[in-house]
Formats: sequence, C-alpha cells, structure tokens
Amino acid sequence: MNILGIESSCDETAVAIYSETQGLLAHQLYSQIDIHAPYGGVVPELASRDHIRKCMPLVVAALKEAKLNRHELTGIAYTRGPGLIGALLVGACLGRTLAWAWGLPALGIHHLEAHLLVAFLEPVAPQFPFIALLVSGGHTLLIHVKGFGNYEILGETLDDAVGEAFDKTAKLLGLTYPGGPALAKLAEHGKMDRFPFPRPMLHHPGFDFSFSGLKTYALNCLQKHQDPHDLSLNQDIAAGFQQAVIDTLWQKSLQALRSLGLNRLVVVGGVSANQRLRTHFSQELQKLGGEIFFPRPQFSTDNAAMVAYIGYLRLKSGQQDSALAITVDPRWSFQELTAF
Ligand code: KG4
Ligand code: ZN
Repeated sequence: MNILGIESSCDETAVAIYSETQGLLAHQLYSQIDIHAPYGGVVPELASRDHIRKCMPLVVAALKEAKLNRHELTGIAYTRGPGLIGALLVGACLGRTLAWAWGLPALGIHHLEAHLLVAFLEPVAPQFPFIALLVSGGHTLLIHVKGFGNYEILGETLDDAVGEAFDKTAKLLGLTYPGGPALAKLAEHGKMDRFPFPRPMLHHPGFDFSFSGLKTYALNCLQKHQDPHDLSLNQDIAAGFQQAVIDTLWQKSLQALRSLGLNRLVVVGGVSANQRLRTHFSQELQKLGGEIFFPRPQFSTDNAAMVAYIGYLRLKSGQQDSALAITVDPRWSFQELTAF
C-alpha cells in the first residue's frame, strides 16, 4: 500500500507518502510563518488561501520525491479535524477530489491521533500500553494508550493549551510568532529560579492542567520589574516560565505513570520539540528506569507523515470515507475515535 497524506489544519501545508513495505517515501512541508508573522498569530483566511496555493504543488513534489506515479498510490488520507475550518476544507477538498478522480479510497484523519501515533514512525517504537503526553498549540492531553485507536483521556487543560501559553507569553515578551521556539531560545540564557513561577494544579487530584495563570504571572513580573538597566529581565522570565511548564508537565506525567503502574511515556505535539523539555523528561525517566519516546523534532510539529501513516493503518483495517459529501470537523473530539 502507498498512502498519500495531506495536512492543512493550521499554518503548515504538508504532503507525504507512506509505503507499507518501505516506510516514509516522501515528506514535503511548507510553513506559512512568514505570512502570519506580521500579524503576531495565524490569520485563518490567509492560511486557507495559502493552502490552496501550495497543496497541489506539494502533491506533485511528493510523488516526484517518492519516485511514484499516481497509479502506484493505493489511498489518500487527509486531516478532517480538529483545526481551522477553512484550512481543513482545502486539504479535505483536494484529498477527496483526487481520490474520486483517481479511483482511490479516501479517509479523514484525526489530527491528534496523527500526532500521537507518529512515534511509531521512529526506528524504536513504543510498545502498548503507554502514557502519552500530547502538547500542541491547541491541546494538552494525558492519555492512557492501550492499543491502536484504544485511548482513555486521563487529563486535559482547563484553559490554555501549553503551546498557546508559550505563544501568549512570548508575545508579552515582545517575541515574534511562532512564540514557542522564540521563547525557548530566549530562555537559554536566563536564570530559571529568579522568579518563583507557580506549578499549577500539582496538588489537585486528577491529571488536568491549567496554564493561563503562568502567563499572568509572567505579565506581573514584567510590570513589577520594569527597569531599563535590567537587561536580563525578559530572559529570566522566559527561563522561569519554561521551567514551570516543564516541571508541571513532568510531575503530572509521573503521577499518571505511577497511578497506572506503567513506565513507558510518549511525548508528542509541537511543544515536544522543546529541547529543554526533552532533556528534563529523559533524565527524570532514566532515573526511574522507565522508557521515553519522542518523535524526531520535525515530526513533533505539524507534518503529513503522521497523516499518511494513520491513513495507512486505518485504510488497511478497512475504514474509508463513504458518502460523497466532503466534510471536516473543526472540533472533532478525540473521544469519538474507535479501535481498529
Ligand atoms: O503541534 P503543533 O505544530 O500544531 C498544533 O497542532 O497546534 O504545535 C504548535 C505549537 C505552537 O504553540 C508552538 O509555539 C509550539 O508548538 N512549539 C514550541 C516549540 N516548537 C513549537 N513550544 C516550545 N518550544 C518549542 N521548541
Ligand atoms: Zn498539530
């Protein structure tokens, strides 16, 4: 099977091809960062228009990279949700239309399941069951993963997602979009213990998170310590904020592992590209003799390899879109996913 995957849920246009026998054959990605940067965040209408410009050229480029012609494809997968409705519609229209024109089955993929299972594209894949921490721009979830499609959500954020908290705090610090990587870079030279950022929700039972208070704490630090001679203020706030996020995510993940008697942790989603998070989690879990899995950093953030791969798994299990209508689901709940 050779599955073409299309991802267009937010501000990356991506197309990839996954082969059952040879693994990932092509991986094309175009980031819209330059388009949205002047606005300080993603502008949905501009995102949709640019997906329209880039989607089909990337399909052509992916086929070329894979050295395949379209007759060698066996199915098409596209992201059906969650995400920005206009952006999703571009990938869905193209995916469904190509599938119809080329006589192939198509399947709409859940963006978060794609983030979650991208860990299986790495040479050393986790074994079930495991705990997954999914940290992206729109979601923060702790999941008990029992098998393909067999997921139990243990906890989620009650307000901002982690990536969103990074982006908003970065904006307060005057950094450009996308804020997460920019804040991480600024934090490299900061003192993480200058400001005692709280570790929210750690003493609450359960596995839910809350990150909006950290952004407010950062704002208070900025306002209280305004001093033109304090050249390290912003980097110390960045370092304190980042460490508070990492500590909180780690402690909640550890509680989840302990409560289920597991020692395997998979960390996915855009924020899992954060190098300090990777180092902290790896060191802590190593001390406990556990196993940690991260996708390669370019597969932490949005990509189409993850869409093509889930497309392969689910199409192989016999699932495919049936009705001719092209539908997307901007708020598709993770809980609706079924085992396969
Ligand atoms: O998974 P993703 O690419 O898109 C969504 O599905 O949301 O995640 C994007 C989020 C953004 O909030 C971005 O700032 C954050 O991931 N991010 C990072 C880093 N790289 C991306 N946050 C912290 N450190 C990073 N290195
Ligand atoms: Zn994503």
